[in-house]
Amino acid sequence: MTAPDSAPGEDLREPLREPLRIGPLELDRRVFMAPMAGISTPAFRRSVRRFGAGLVYTEMISAYGVYYDNRRTLDYLACGEEQHPVGFQLFGADADVLAEAAMRCVRAGADLVDINMACPVRKVMKTGAGAALLAKPERAAGIVRAVAEAIGPGVPVTVKIRSGLRAGDEAGRRTAPLLAAAGAAAVCIHPRTAAQLYRGRADHAVTRALAQELDVPVIASGDVDGRAAALALLESGAAAVMLARHALGRPWLFAEVLDGAPEPDAAERLAEVRRFAADVLRDMGPRGVGHLRQFWQRFRRSGVLDRPLAQALMQAPDAVVVAALLGL
Ligand SMILES: Cc1cc2nc3c(=O)[nH]c(=O)nc-3n(C[C@H](O)[C@H](O)[C@H](O)COP(=O)(O)O)c2cc1C
Repeated sequence: MTAPDSAPGEDLREPLREPLRIGPLELDRRVFMAPMAGISTPAFRRSVRRFGAGLVYTEMISAYGVYYDNRRTLDYLACGEEQHPVGFQLFGADADVLAEAAMRCVRAGADLVDINMACPVRKVMKTGAGAALLAKPERAAGIVRAVAEAIGPGVPVTVKIRSGLRAGDEAGRRTAPLLAAAGAAAVCIHPRTAAQLYRGRADHAVTRALAQELDVPVIASGDVDGRAAALALLESGAAAVMLARHALGRPWLFAEVLDGAPEPDAAERLAEVRRFAADVLRDMGPRGVGHLRQFWQRFRRSGVLDRPLAQALMQAPDAVVVAALLGL
């Protein structure tokens, strides 16, 4: 008897756990943690890794800050063993500066270097960086070329883009093929326009179209709120998905998306909050108290903290009080 074309049970394969290559980088799952400025710190990255994130990113890092040895910027390059694989995301507008900064990222342990061409914030765009690069496709491609040449074949360069600057301009779709031709090993698309900021729904018809047009993996970001959304994106051609706002205050969303895991019980969720908070305070010292404030209401909304505890944590003046409230 000849072997059947498809192995028995092949249709039971788990698409989100299919290996994925991004250039030379081999990943074993397709659910990533999106880069989020002010959020994706080492403690946050460790937290989502515990629930199965297959690739995590740094916050976006100023290439100029790295280039000019700004001490605060260089702190963003710190990355422990337990967080890998890690993408370092850079923003900037100058190819030489980005190339030099990318080499520093690789020396600091980057498994992947991502160039931000998606940030819609005025302060960033007015320097010609972030989504502003979508209006200058040749410049954008030149940046990718310079970075890819500088860091060599061992570490992939990727780009994160928006669908465009404003509705109907299709700048993302027009720029992406040039980026791939210039050496981008994958393109991540957040299909909202820069003008939309974070409002409205992500238009994943753009993701679908890009996935058909490009011969490099297309990573989808936007509105991934559960397993069904992630599977639908893979079904429509995306190579991987990123979780962002929906995982804030709910790091266990990664396990749900990846494996359909049920939400951990209340004790486990509280243990994770305590572990995350302890990590932040250890890494950031007194600055961690302010940093953590953006998480307490999110942990309350996800049902881990009750209202009085969340409020007390919001008002906690220092790390000693935070630690006492959480029993750290
Ligand atoms: C607070 C915050 C900070 C963000 N910072 C970055 C960033 O530094 N770099 C980046 O490429 N995208 C950034 N993003 C965009 C996310 O990576 C993601 O593409 C976007 O939120 C869409 O996904 P969502 O609809 O699931 O939130 C940020 C988003 C948020 C909410």
